[in-house]
Amino acid sequence: FEVDWDPGMAEKSGYDHFMLKEIHEQPETVRRCITGRLNEADVHLDDVSLTAEQLEQYNKVYVVACGTAYNAGLVGKYAIENLARVPVEVDVASEFRYRDPIVDENTLVVVVSQSGETADTLAAVREAQDKGARVIGICNVVGSSIPREADDVIYIHAGPEIAVASTKAYIGMITVFYMLAIYFARKKDLLADEESKQLIKDMKALPDQIAGIIDNSEEKIKDLAAEYAQNENAFFIGRSVDNAVVQEGALKLKEISYIHAESYPAGELKHGTLALVEEGVPVIALATQPSVKEKTLSNVKEVKARGGVVTGVVFGGEEELEDLDYRFEIPETSEVLTSILSVVPLQLLAYYVAVERGCDVDQPRNLAKSVTVE
Ligand code: G6P
Repeated sequence: FEVDWDPGMAEKSGYDHFMLKEIHEQPETVRRCITGRLNEADVHLDDVSLTAEQLEQYNKVYVVACGTAYNAGLVGKYAIENLARVPVEVDVASEFRYRDPIVDENTLVVVVSQSGETADTLAAVREAQDKGARVIGICNVVGSSIPREADDVIYIHAGPEIAVASTKAYIGMITVFYMLAIYFARKKDLLADEESKQLIKDMKALPDQIAGIIDNSEEKIKDLAAEYAQNENAFFIGRSVDNAVVQEGALKLKEISYIHAESYPAGELKHGTLALVEEGVPVIALATQPSVKEKTLSNVKEVKARGGVVTGVVFGGEEELEDLDYRFEIPETSEVLTSILSVVPLQLLAYYVAVERGCDVDQPRNLAKSVTVE
């Protein structure tokens, strides 16, 4: 009698890797993150106390972070600019801290960090505060250094994240950014009741929708991964918020599968990267934004004409999109919120490609979960 079990598997709740477990935990991550913070038309963030007057005073928001948290900030820029109509600059912490950033008491600085201990991000908090800015931290690890030093903290409540490549923390971070954007927009009187109710209703539906995407796409992604795993290059394209999400998709694939992966705004492809697209090169195209979908699909045509193999992430129920070799569908939601859904197939693809290539998924070479030194 043999038992096919070891203590490590118990920690992973039966999943082969922490990363896969954490991807599957994402419906719960979003649920925990929004619990108690959304009512019918408004967002309540207990830990943030900004008055309408204070918000009017901020003429710029600066988001500062590293790695996946930086990519979450790119979605944050889109959400805050779109809903709260204030310009947002996103910067990597190691740049921000050394370039004498233009920050003062009229700047709101949002710092994002899963661990709350990243050395460059912590230094950015201090730099911003020295210049008189108020700092809001979006963090996961309770009581870590950044939440202790920031003026306000919004915890994502994702629970421990073990895999070096971040998944559920990213989802938690972007969920917080959406809540922050709605919060700002409501305080500034920019979001009507009906619009806000719809957004909040859609946010509450996200956990089940994420679970549905995992259920519907996981097997198909395994097959696709076997094909994509043979390549040494991959490209990701998108426009608008899709362009933010593809940065995270490319980072995930690069980190754990060691495939050279680049993301590009779809319209920028023809200004350089298209030169690298040849027969069989995988291109992942996000086309979830109705306002620019046709534009992205015309970029897909350019890729197809050069022999690229295109996987699209689109809304379900769309007509046949003949230029797509493969497609993954996300269910209906508000246009601004799609990132929480569209990133999920990209995470699964990175995971299964890495498994296919025999990589150490949870501990990729040369990378650490938390970078506490410069
Ligand atoms: C390291 C990790 C990444 C993470 C980044 C920022 O590079 O490998 O997964 O995104 O640090 O970490 P933080 O804890 O500040 O979010």
